[in-house]
Amino acid sequence: MSVVPYKDKKEGKKQQVASMFDNISKKYDLLNHLLSLGIDIIWRKKAIKMLQKDQPKLILDIATGTGDFAIEALALKPEKVIGVDISEGMLQEGRKKMKQKKLEHLIELQLGDSEKLLFQENKFDAVIVSFGVRNFENLEKGLADMYRVLKPGGKTVILEFSKPKKFPMKQGYSFYFKYILPQIGRMISKDHSAYTYLPESVKAFPDGRDFLGILEKVGFKQTQCKTLTFGISSIYTGIK
Ligand SMILES: C[S@@+](CC[C@H](N)C(=O)[O-])C[C@H]1O[C@@H](n2cnc3c(N)ncnc32)[C@H](O)[C@@H]1O
Repeated sequence: MSVVPYKDKKEGKKQQVASMFDNISKKYDLLNHLLSLGIDIIWRKKAIKMLQKDQPKLILDIATGTGDFAIEALALKPEKVIGVDISEGMLQEGRKKMKQKKLEHLIELQLGDSEKLLFQENKFDAVIVSFGVRNFENLEKGLADMYRVLKPGGKTVILEFSKPKKFPMKQGYSFYFKYILPQIGRMISKDHSAYTYLPESVKAFPDGRDFLGILEKVGFKQTQCKTLTFGISSIYTGIK
C-alpha cells in the first residue's frame, strides 16, 4: 500500500499529492525553511555542485514546485532550466518568484507529470529532482521517464529525505519528525494531513543502497549516494 496524504479519500496518490501541494503552496517556502532551520537551502546547493564538472546547458527540474532547485541550478550557468510539476498552485507561486527575480528568460515552469514527460528522448544534459521522487505515484515509471529524456552520458541528481541510522540522531530525528514537525506544519499550512504525510512517506521510502538499486534497474550507471546531515537527506547520482 502506498502512503497517501488523505487516507479517507478515494483518489489515487497522484491526484492527492497535487491537491495537497495546491493547498499548501502559499506557505510551502516558509515552512520548508522554518522546519529545516534553513538547512534545505544548503542541501540544494550541495546537490547542484554534483553537476559542476558536467556544465549542463539544458536542465530539466522534475517536481520543481516553487522552483527553488531550478534557481539553484543557475549556479551552473546553463542556457535554460525547464521545471515541471503536477501542482498548478506550486507553479503559480514559482512563476511569481521568477518574475520578481527577473529569471523568466532562464527558467520556464510547465505543468507536467514525471511519469509521462512530454519531451523527446535524449533531450536534456541533466535531469534533477529535489524532494520530489518520494511523492511519485509510480517511482520506477518516473525514474524510467527521467532516464528516457536524458542524453546519453547525461547525469541525474536526486535529493531526497533519508533515514538517519545511528544513535542519537535516529531517535532525535524520529521524535522531531513525528511529534513536532506535524504540529508546526498543521498550524501554519492549515492542512491537517500534509505534514503527517511527510514523515510517513519518508518512513516508507527506499533510501541508500535500496534507492540506488531502483536507479540501476531503470538503466542508470555509476550510481552513487552521498548522505547529508547525519543521513537526514541523501544525494543520489547516476549516468545514462
Ligand atoms: C516537496 S515538493 C518539492 C519542490 C521543490 N523541488 C523543492 O525542492 O522545494 C514536491 C513536489 O513534487 C511534485 N510532484 C509530485 N508528484 C509529481 C509528478 N508525478 N510529476 C511532477 N511533479 C510531481 C508536487 O506537486 C510538489 O510540488
